[in-house]
Amino acid sequence: MKQPKQIKKAEGKLGILLPGLGAVATTTIAGALLARKGLAEPIGSLTQMGTIRLGKRTDNKAPKIKDFLPLASLDQVAFGGWDIFPDDAYESAKHAEVLELRHIDAVRDELSAIRPMRGVFYPEYVKRLNGTHVKTGATKADMVEQVREDIRNFIKENGCDRAVAVWCGSTEVYIEPTTVHQSVAAFEEGLAKSDPAISNSQIYAWACIKEGVPFANGAPNLTVDFPAAWDLAREHGVPLAGKDFKTGQTLMKTVIAPGLKARMLGIAGWFSTNILGNRDGEVLDDPDSFKSKEVSKLGVLEYILQPHVYKELYGKLFHKVRIEYYPPRGDAKEGWDNIDLVGWLGYPMQIKINFLCRDSILAAPIVLDLALLMDLAQRAGFSGTQEWLSFYWKSPMTAPDLYPEHDLFIQSMKLKNTMRWMMGEDLITHLGNEYYD
Ligand SMILES: NC(=O)c1ccc[n+]([C@@H]2O[C@H](COP(=O)([O-])OP(=O)(O)OC[C@H]3O[C@@H](n4cnc5c(N)ncnc54)[C@H](O)[C@@H]3O)[C@@H](O)[C@H]2O)c1
Repeated sequence: MKQPKQIKKAEGKLGILLPGLGAVATTTIAGALLARKGLAEPIGSLTQMGTIRLGKRTDNKAPKIKDFLPLASLDQVAFGGWDIFPDDAYESAKHAEVLELRHIDAVRDELSAIRPMRGVFYPEYVKRLNGTHVKTGATKADMVEQVREDIRNFIKENGCDRAVAVWCGSTEVYIEPTTVHQSVAAFEEGLAKSDPAISNSQIYAWACIKEGVPFANGAPNLTVDFPAAWDLAREHGVPLAGKDFKTGQTLMKTVIAPGLKARMLGIAGWFSTNILGNRDGEVLDDPDSFKSKEVSKLGVLEYILQPHVYKELYGKLFHKVRIEYYPPRGDAKEGWDNIDLVGWLGYPMQIKINFLCRDSILAAPIVLDLALLMDLAQRAGFSGTQEWLSFYWKSPMTAPDLYPEHDLFIQSMKLKNTMRWMMGEDLITHLGNEYYD
């Protein structure tokens, strides 16, 4: 990433394309439309509500991020997407039962006008769903071409100047990268042969990259986290980011674990369990999809606590994560964490966390922020993996051989310093010696 000499202005309209028009996507769209009309506050969105300190503490200069960065405004965005069911965004939002009708009805006309384009759906990657609104094509290469055409049509029909995509589709089964993922040529050949290691989300991502559309991956799927995608993205000047929105339990984990570690408190065990009853919960009830989620959730503590460095404190940590599908709760997830701590001289203590959260309410501001920041990244000339956006991910993508930063406070500092750096402002180190000269 080179420091941009100039960032292109956010002129014209930005298309925000969401593959998967389910709970998260419709909560995002409805929320952005409500905020645009001044009918609700976009709480949780750093781009809409956050500020950024510039210069010394004594300068008292902390503009809103949206005034500091040349971001697209909510008035400049148009939403669209794909799904394997034909419900428009209004029907889908009602079905998701996240938002109350008073919110959905206030933007009914706009939501009803968002009809999903037919999805790419090979069912072996999401076993609990039987899609009816799907494309047909001879090969996966053919599917890529159809998605590319959808993108071009969407941009034309909506008078957009450019677009970004954020994957809000279901979690796919766990896939390890294979030889088809190692180079652009191998992947193209794999598409032509409909290689089984190429999943639905990879097809969307490949089409987006080829159309110059930045792609962020909200699920733990492989999607854009392999060499062929990184290479193609750099060739086309397209930013990539992922994986798996950091929303409820993992958000808490990456807040609390760094605090305990900073004070050198030991941890013998961390048991996390959840109940949730939305469609995401139903999909995650399939062990192969759960495996993708589990891998994404488990990595966090290992990297934050560094058990290889702090053997006495974290060397024997037992970390377990469970998700239970429990329909009565819908989107109102409940998470329990039990942390077995170890203090001075080895004395045991416990912390219990009971987080009654709302999954999509936590995810929606992340989708909006990512769409706006990925668009900014492209206008700033960045391409490939955007590690500065780690803040938003459970399992941040990084350069090969680089371990990810999971600590929310390091991620936040990295995010804001990157914003300062791209705008030519001084970085903030928190040294603060100058106040005592
Ligand atoms: N809500 C959160 O807090 C959170 C956190 C992290 C990650 N996620 C991930 O975000 C994604 C969306 O979550 P959700 O709660 O909105 O789920 P959801 O089930 O309500 O929505 C997913 C939508 O994707 C559609 N879909 C599935 N395969 C598709 C395909 N191939 N093409 C187009 N559409 C497809 C489904 O029909 C559904 O409408 C999931 O992968 C979930 O794991 C959510």
